[in-house]
Amino acid sequence: MQKEHSRFYQKEADRYHELRYGSWYGSIAAEAHHDILREILAGRERPLIILDVACGTGHNIGVLSEAGDLVVACDLTPEMMEMARKRLGPRRNVHYIRGDAFQIPFPDNTFDAVTSSRFLHLLDDSRQKKVLLEILRVLKPGGTMAVDFFNIHHWRILALPIFVYRALLKKRPTGSTMSNINEITGWMRRNKINMAGTIGVGSYFLVLSWIFPRRFSLALAGLFRKGPLKMLAEQIIVIGEKQV
Ligand SMILES: C[S@@+](CC[C@H](N)C(=O)[O-])C[C@H]1O[C@@H](n2cnc3c(N)ncnc32)[C@H](O)[C@@H]1O
Repeated sequence: MQKEHSRFYQKEADRYHELRYGSWYGSIAAEAHHDILREILAGRERPLIILDVACGTGHNIGVLSEAGDLVVACDLTPEMMEMARKRLGPRRNVHYIRGDAFQIPFPDNTFDAVTSSRFLHLLDDSRQKKVLLEILRVLKPGGTMAVDFFNIHHWRILALPIFVYRALLKKRPTGSTMSNINEITGWMRRNKINMAGTIGVGSYFLVLSWIFPRRFSLALAGLFRKGPLKMLAEQIIVIGEKQV
């Protein structure tokens, strides 16, 4: 399964970033995501050593390198990391390392924060939990994890338009696990993770605002972060802290 993913992203590397974040919706969701990551990390004590699991073409790396003192960007597919290097240029506090999320190549209790985006949905439920335990292992006690899941409610409500949108962008189909966030947070609590919150990112409903100025759509994206509209967010970032 890991090899399959790596082969898929090896082929996808050249076009992944543009396809995912180059569209109108992709860029709005990316900016909303980055604002949230900045807020999550802003309160952390320095120095801050951060691991980004399955960093891909470096979607999070720019923000993390500004928020942290040392960033380890880790991915199974060298071609994806090569694109990240090209896109972001050299950054003195960022190190790219090839590694498998199921066996993160670091000792226990290494990182102050671990992030991962748009990765866990590639795994089925039991594999997601293996990766979460591996993230927990490398996190220092008191460290923060911020990982996102595809939200099952968003998918259920918007399945047909999402299918059409993906077809128009000629995205290759990937099997995605849609998660029930209450189930995930319950599992985390039972596994020595204190829950610090959940935040919604993006929603395909935002497409309805595309004729308005960008700042209006970004403000609208804020509505999907919490409260009742969070249920309609595309992704949910789950923020947890490893028990001391
Ligand atoms: C959809 S991309 C997400 C990339 C980036 N995090 C983002 O938000 O755009 C999924 C990434 O997961 C990586 N990947 C797949 N299986 C992996 C594994 N077992 N360990 C580490 N990375 C993996 C792929 O190489 C790919 O770069």
